[in-house]
Amino acid sequence: MSDQTQSMVSRRGFLRTVGISGGAGAMLATMGAMGLAPSAAAAVTPAFRPPERSDFTLTGRPGASVVVLGGGIAGLTAAYELGKAGYHCTILEARHRVGGRNLTIRGGDVETDLDGRTQRAGFSDGVYFNAGPGRIAQWMVTMDYCRELGVPIEVFTNQNADALIYNESAGMTGPVRYRTAKADVYGYVSELLAKATDQGALDARLTTEDRDRLLSFLQSFGAIGGRTSDWAYTGTNRRGYSAYPGAGNDVGSLLGAPPALSDVFASNVGRYFSFEFGYDQAMLMFQPVGGMDQIPRALARAVGPHRIRLNAEVTGVTDRGSRVEVTYRQGGRQSQVTADYCVAALPPHLMARVPHNLGTPVTAALADFPVTASGKIGLEYRSRWWETDQRIYGGITETDLDLSHIWYPSYGFHGKRGLVVGYYNTGANARAYSGLTPEQRSERAISQGVKIHGEKYRSELVTSYSHAWDRTRYVEGAWTSPRYGTAGYNLLLQPAGRVYFAGDWLSHEVAWQHGAFVAARSAVSALHQRVMAG
Ligand code: FAD
Ligand code: ALA
Repeated sequence: MSDQTQSMVSRRGFLRTVGISGGAGAMLATMGAMGLAPSAAAAVTPAFRPPERSDFTLTGRPGASVVVLGGGIAGLTAAYELGKAGYHCTILEARHRVGGRNLTIRGGDVETDLDGRTQRAGFSDGVYFNAGPGRIAQWMVTMDYCRELGVPIEVFTNQNADALIYNESAGMTGPVRYRTAKADVYGYVSELLAKATDQGALDARLTTEDRDRLLSFLQSFGAIGGRTSDWAYTGTNRRGYSAYPGAGNDVGSLLGAPPALSDVFASNVGRYFSFEFGYDQAMLMFQPVGGMDQIPRALARAVGPHRIRLNAEVTGVTDRGSRVEVTYRQGGRQSQVTADYCVAALPPHLMARVPHNLGTPVTAALADFPVTASGKIGLEYRSRWWETDQRIYGGITETDLDLSHIWYPSYGFHGKRGLVVGYYNTGANARAYSGLTPEQRSERAISQGVKIHGEKYRSELVTSYSHAWDRTRYVEGAWTSPRYGTAGYNLLLQPAGRVYFAGDWLSHEVAWQHGAFVAARSAVSALHQRVMAG
């Protein structure tokens, strides 16, 4: 008996004893403690004790002033949490609106990119386009802020069995529905594994009991035949119907037999299935009702508009030892804010370019965050043909085209109009689009989309707006890839004199608002501790 098997057997014996003496509850609790039973208890989010007004009244310490650079989620959160405790905060935000990458575009919004291309969104009333964040996982701190700030949320459909997969490079002549693709891949994988198991190929790994349980699982997981049919996958109604069952004797028409095993694997549809296993992408996901920017709007209301200076581009940061001076340009004029402390919540590659006296290692560390490009296009349609004609209510179609993903709206079901995200891509695909004019981007996205959805993809289009994050002023990229564990990254986790850094780039949840929230909380906690100790 191997050491591993021996320890398994003795653990089983121990559990049986616990079960006999303490009952099922005791056994489950013990299994949980041994890491054997799944625990339904929610994993905790990073601990945070917000600063409180009473911290000042109890200690008799005076409040402090803080200048916050950047009005994205991190900057707003820092000002919000500090402000609740009585700190005097001033946010300097270069753009004409708060939110940073949390950007929702509505009809009438005007954006000019770094290449001087101006777009005025022509979306109808009630139609919006989340150009940046679109989804929130249940465990994220973002949900807690939505609750605290009174931002209503609704389900965001991140996976949909009726959405499509289209791999042009694999020779697919048309899209396949997720349910069909999954039925076939799971079916054939189950067949192969069942055959190998039954033929004894896995006997070194499986006990007789394990083998029987695995075979039984595979039969249900893959909807395959039994031993007498050599575990064959031949397809079931999981693949879907060409005509759904009706009344009386109408059994409907099944989609038919699956393609051959090697054709299914050659289509490479299975490469998308693991997406929904991700701890950050698994359903249920959520979105704020009315657009993702409801979050920064609510934060800005809570902070107080009088504390936020818009169109205020930070141009310099000087730590004077007992205070911090920040210069900024607003309306063609240079101005200055002096405060006890500073929270710098700009993207790192942009902060690296702001003149400061915080030292060259700080500049070098800030400049050492590789930046990813990403882009999205919002296509408004006069009808919701994806719902009426194709029965797709939300969710995502996956492709190997350079548009990558097509998102169907998770709001406004059965409404008159709707907005489809016609591409959401990153890296080279994103740059291929960001180099084009908005009209060219739209044309490119449409000409690809018709391969999946047919001519309505073009003929029903009303208007479009595209956003290229690498060409967006004051952001210049979608997100970064921090070099965790390096001296540079760790340096920025510490204050540089009186300047604290924050942003999703100082977290292990880059490209998620959660990362910006927790990084801001971390800066707030460190700053407050210092003030309390001072
Ligand atoms: P930012 O939002 O970048 O804020 C920095 C702020 O600094 C900006 O407001 C900027 O204008 C300002 N600024 C820059 N330079 C200056 C200057 N010189 N002076 C003054 N101000 C300046 N997150 C999710 O939770 N869910 C998602 O589904 C999701 N999807 C995403 C999809 C895309 C395409 C993108 C781009 C992001 C996505 N994210 C998502 C990530 C999320 O948007 C970010 O993690 C979060 O918004 C980052 O907030 P931040 O405050 O750290 O940075
Ligand atoms: N977190 C981003 C998204 O889910 C990248 O789209």
